[in-house]
Order: sequence, then C-alpha cells, then structure tokens
Amino acid sequence: MCDYCGCRESGPTAELAAEHVKLQLLSERLKARLDAKEDISDLFTEFTALLEMHAAKEEVGLFPKVNGLKVMDDQIAQLIAEHEQLHEQLGSGPVERDVRAAIKLLSQHIDDEEFDLFPHVIHALDPEDWDEIELAHRAVESVFLEDAAHPHDHPHDHTHDSGTKRRHPSG
Ligand SMILES: [Fe+2]
Ligand SMILES: [Fe+2]
Repeated sequence: MCDYCGCRESGPTAELAAEHVKLQLLSERLKARLDAKEDISDLFTEFTALLEMHAAKEEVGLFPKVNGLKVMDDQIAQLIAEHEQLHEQLGSGPVERDVRAAIKLLSQHIDDEEFDLFPHVIHALDPEDWDEIELAHRAVESVFLEDAAHPHDHPHDHTHDSGTKRRHPSG
C-alpha cells in the first residue's frame, strides 16, 4: 500500500483506496470459501457490485483527468483493459476458476493503481479537477445505489454477455 504520498489521507484517491481495502478483504473471504468448498453466491454478488461501482468511479472520474495530463495514456489504457477483463471473468457468475483468476488480476491491478498511478497524479491535478472527480464519484454512486434499490427498472443493464452493455463509459 502507498503510505507516503498522501493519496490515502483524503479526497477521491482516499475513497478509491478505501474501496481497494474492501475489495481485497472480500477477495480473501472469497478465496477462503472456495478453499473450503463453500457456497460463494452472496459474497460474489457483494464483490462484483462493489467492483463494478469502483471501476465506474475510476473510469468517469480519475482516469479522464489523468488522460488530460497526456503523460500516462498507456497506463490508463492498460487499467481500463483490465477492468474489461475483470468484467468478463466475473460475467458468468461465481465460477471458481474465473473468480480465482479475477482475484489474482485485481490484486495486481490495485497495486498498479496505488503504487504507480495515485502517487503520480496526486500533485499533478488541480483542485478543480479533484472537485470534478468527487462529483463524478457521487454521480456514479447515486446511479449504482439507485439501481440496487430498484433492480427491475433497468432490466438490460446487468446482462454480462457483452462488454457493450456496461452502464459507464469505458474509454
Ligand atoms: Fe481500477
Ligand atoms: Fe481501483
């Protein structure tokens, strides 16, 4: 974990880092249940819901701002590709092999964000950028939490047969 640059202390990167912690805890619990040959359905639902919302926050908040800096285009493209890969790996439900692969990829992905991305952008973006990222996070949360409260209002949004139906822009 990055404990040096201040990215975990406040603001949008602290929010993302706190979600990373939750995702890693859920990953550990999922692995433990898989090892014990126990049912993972409820944990899987919790894990994928948080991961989808978290990825959406990054893709509509931080990542476009970082792309505006024009110095980390390749890294951002790689992180977005990994979001897509995670989405596909988890799209068939709680299949053990896919869940284990996703957990492994997510762990490396989180390390890349916390060690390579956050420290490089924490002082590079303006206060206005961080305000807009904050607003983007709140907007994503309202969509996802509204959706969780009324799951039948958007019957087509949760199909996972193709990457084209995701609710947030991926570029
Ligand atoms: Fe990410
Ligand atoms: Fe992340």
